[in-house]
Amino acid sequence: MSRLGKMPHWQKWFVIVGMSSCSLSGVAYLIGRHLEIHRPILGSHLILALHGVGAILATLALGSALPFHLKAGLQSKHKRISGISQLSFLGLLIITGALLYYGSEDLREIAINLHWSIGLLFFSMFILHTIKASNK
Ligand code: HEM
Ligand code: HEM
Repeated sequence: MSRLGKMPHWQKWFVIVGMSSCSLSGVAYLIGRHLEIHRPILGSHLILALHGVGAILATLALGSALPFHLKAGLQSKHKRISGISQLSFLGLLIITGALLYYGSEDLREIAINLHWSIGLLFFSMFILHTIKASNK
């Protein structure tokens, strides 16, 4: 069976650690800051800072997947829907993340809501894509 798209071991773990640290810290901050559950801990600056570092790692990990994994994955004809969707979600997360920093104040509320909604969709798709990949 074709294993086109399979990543080298180091890259697989780099992508999993990068995407998970970014997503889990983002979910934690969402729960703490916006749902007000355990706010002093989950909604703290430390968690937001961890999210920022996670986002840097995730972007680096995405960059490492661009030159080979995408092309080989598309050629293998497997996991196209989850692969292309998570790639699009990541693009939107980078754009809305940039808006959170540099966008106008009027846009901030919309950018926050878009950002975390897309973030939840992305993380679900990533889990599906990666777990299903390990069984095949
Ligand atoms: C065009 C979009 C994409 C396609 C068609 C695609 C396709 C695939 C395929 C076919 C596999 C299974 C490889 C195998 O086990 O034989 C796979 C695994 C995987 N993909 Fe993607 N992928 C895409 C985008 C992405 C993106 C953007 C990421 C990063 C966020 C990603 C992360 C992973 C990871 C971590 C695995 C598991 C690695 C492994 O088992 O070797 N993929 N993908
Ligand atoms: C590569 C993907 C991602 C990037 C580049 C990214 C980037 C960013 C940036 C730059 C900020 C602003 C930080 C600040 O104000 O200091 C932010 C905030 C945030 N992100 Fe992400 N993020 C990503 C993924 C996610 C995911 C998967 C979630 C999961 C829900 C998420 C949830 C949040 C939340 C809740 C905030 C705080 C919004 C606020 O109330 O100010 N992010 N993100």
